[in-house]
Amino acid sequence: MIDLCFSILASDFAHLADEVAAATRGGGTIVHVDVMDGHFVPNITFGPPMVKALRPITKLPLDCHLMIENPDDFIPAFAQAGADMISVQQEVCPHLHRTLQHIASLDVLPGVVINPATPVETLIEVLPMVHHVLVMSVNPGFGGQQFLPLALDKIVLLAELRAALGLNFRIEVDGGVDNDTVASVVRAGAEMLVAGSAVFAPGRTEQNARELLRLARAAAPKAAGKPSPQSRKPPSSRSRPKPRKK
Ligand code: DX5
Ligand code: ZN
Repeated sequence: MIDLCFSILASDFAHLADEVAAATRGGGTIVHVDVMDGHFVPNITFGPPMVKALRPITKLPLDCHLMIENPDDFIPAFAQAGADMISVQQEVCPHLHRTLQHIASLDVLPGVVINPATPVETLIEVLPMVHHVLVMSVNPGFGGQQFLPLALDKIVLLAELRAALGLNFRIEVDGGVDNDTVASVVRAGAEMLVAGSAVFAPGRTEQNARELLRLARAAAPKAAGKPSPQSRKPPSSRSRPKPRKK
C-alpha cells in the first residue's frame, strides 16, 4: 500500500481547504503537517491551531511531523487538536522510549524521524513501538530541497530490519520526493511518501498528485498492498490510521 502524504507546507495557505481537496482528488491519502519551531530547524511554521483548522475539512489522517525541541510539551495539544499520527525527531528526544509511549497513550500513532546524519541503528530498541519510521531525505527546515540519495540505503536497512525482527512499522520518506526520485524510494521500500513542492502548484495540484502516485505505484513490487507473511500488529498501536468520524 502506497500512501501519498501531501505536505501542506507547499500549499497556498490562503486557500488551504481547496488545496487539500485538490490533492485528495488526485489520490493523496494522508495530510502531512510540518511543524517547525525556529530552534530545532531554522524556520517557523504552524502549531496545534493549524491541526484543529484542518480536522473538520478532511477525513484523511493528519500526520504531524514535529521538528521542534521539547516535543513532549506539545504532544497533548496536537493530540487534542486532532492529530492521527505524531512523529518526533530522534535528535531531540533524550528519552525517546518515553516520548513514544506518551504519544501512544493519547491514542495517536507514534512515529520517529531520523535526519540524514542520524543512523538507523539508533532506533533498534524502539522499532517495536512505532507505527512508522520517517527517513529524512533532506535536512529538515524547508520545502523544495534536493533529494539526498543516502536516504535510500537507510530505507533498505529499515525494510531488512523489519523483516528480520518480524515487525510491521511503516517506512516514510520526506524531502525532495518528486517525479524523478519517487521510483527509487519506492523500490528501496518506502510506503508513505511525503511530497510538497512536487504536488502543490496553482491549477495543477490534482494532476501532480495523480502523476506522482502513478509513478510510485508503477515502481512498487507486485506484491505491494498485500500484507507480508511476517507482518504482525505491534502490541500498542493500530496498524492503519482510520479517518476520524465527524
Ligand atoms: C522539510 C519537511 C518536508 C517538506 C517536503 O523539512 O519536513 O515535509 O515539506 O517538501 P518537498 O516535498 O518540497 O521537499
Ligand atoms: Zn515533513
